[in-house]
Amino acid sequence: MSGNTFGTIFRITTWGESHGPAVGVVVDGCPAGLALTVQDIQKELDRRRPGQSRASTARKEEDRVEILSGIFEGKTTGTPISLLVWNKDADSSAYDLLRNKPRPGHADYAYQMKYGMRDHRGGGRASARETVGRVAAGAVAKKLLQAAGVQVVAYVTELGGISAGIASSDLMQLRAQAESNVVRCPDPAAADRMMQRLDSVRAEGDSLGGTVVIVAEGVPVGLGEPVFDKLDADLAKALMSIGAVKAVDIGAGCRCAGMRGSEMNDPMVWREGRVDFQSNNAGGILGGISTGAPIVCTISVKPTPSIARQQSTVDLASGGAAEIEIKGRHDPAIPPRIVPVAEAMVALVLADHLLRQRAARL
Ligand SMILES: Cc1cc2nc3c(=O)[nH]c(=O)nc-3n(C[C@H](O)[C@H](O)[C@H](O)COP(=O)(O)O)c2cc1C
Repeated sequence: MSGNTFGTIFRITTWGESHGPAVGVVVDGCPAGLALTVQDIQKELDRRRPGQSRASTARKEEDRVEILSGIFEGKTTGTPISLLVWNKDADSSAYDLLRNKPRPGHADYAYQMKYGMRDHRGGGRASARETVGRVAAGAVAKKLLQAAGVQVVAYVTELGGISAGIASSDLMQLRAQAESNVVRCPDPAAADRMMQRLDSVRAEGDSLGGTVVIVAEGVPVGLGEPVFDKLDADLAKALMSIGAVKAVDIGAGCRCAGMRGSEMNDPMVWREGRVDFQSNNAGGILGGISTGAPIVCTISVKPTPSIARQQSTVDLASGGAAEIEIKGRHDPAIPPRIVPVAEAMVALVLADHLLRQRAARL
């Protein structure tokens, strides 16, 4: 019944609520002998942390990770790795008015109807706070992938209708450019315009959506388990499981519907003794199996549902109509904050399939 566990061999279970005492994750199935430090995990959590810029919520959390199990003398032991982060800056007062009045666009109404009760403070499990566990586990997956020569990088390509021009194909350069501004966009001119639009929309009490591209380079040929655990199917599930993600494209994605076969097919060539592709509309996956080309996913992220404008809702206690103006501390746009979360989810899928591939043939 519960949907809090993800993965087959490299398996994670996230736990905790936004305004509970702590959040965290248990990572099971990570092989023994992987060098792993607190800093490996902390540096990813620092990228996820709120309160770092005017592009994110003002909630100020230190997000110091504690490793409770699974590591001995700097290496994984093969036993469950338990990671914990205390919630320190939760302010539940702003949520009192939401106890009986579900926020339009948020998970409040659906949770209430499903369970007959809910922790209304900070969105409970449907809060971005839940992604702490994903990012912490993703850091472990990234370490495993690095050892196999795989890199996963994400960046914002559109915010509030402003599109970035992506000039470089050097993944590390794109990451450095994206991480140098608060909207995490590798095109500095577009990033400035995105920030201006974000400022003006926030002043109107509103929010913006956008798109984020996730690229994985160095992925070996052969990852993915037909037919139900195809790599693209698992990536779509992983990315769609992040709150506010409303569509996942692999390679050309939705654009493929308007293309001809001659445009969509990636011509194959020999390059330096190995098969290569002259384009990458497939996004590095054919038949649900990685081809060795970069894996490219694009997610469409909706505008933050909690906005400061007056909105119509219902009062579930009285059965009447209601109006709400949401206070609290919210991200004016989610794409910049979702970047490390999306990287983590892709890393988790790839680490799991890397381990599954070891059982694929003699
Ligand atoms: C990194 C991240 C940050 C988010 N920040 C906020 C926020 O500040 N306020 C808000 O209302 N929703 C925020 N969300 C979105 C909600 O969690 C999400 O819309 C809600 O759970 C409903 O799920 P759905 O949009 O997928 O239907 C955030 C999501 C993520 C992944």
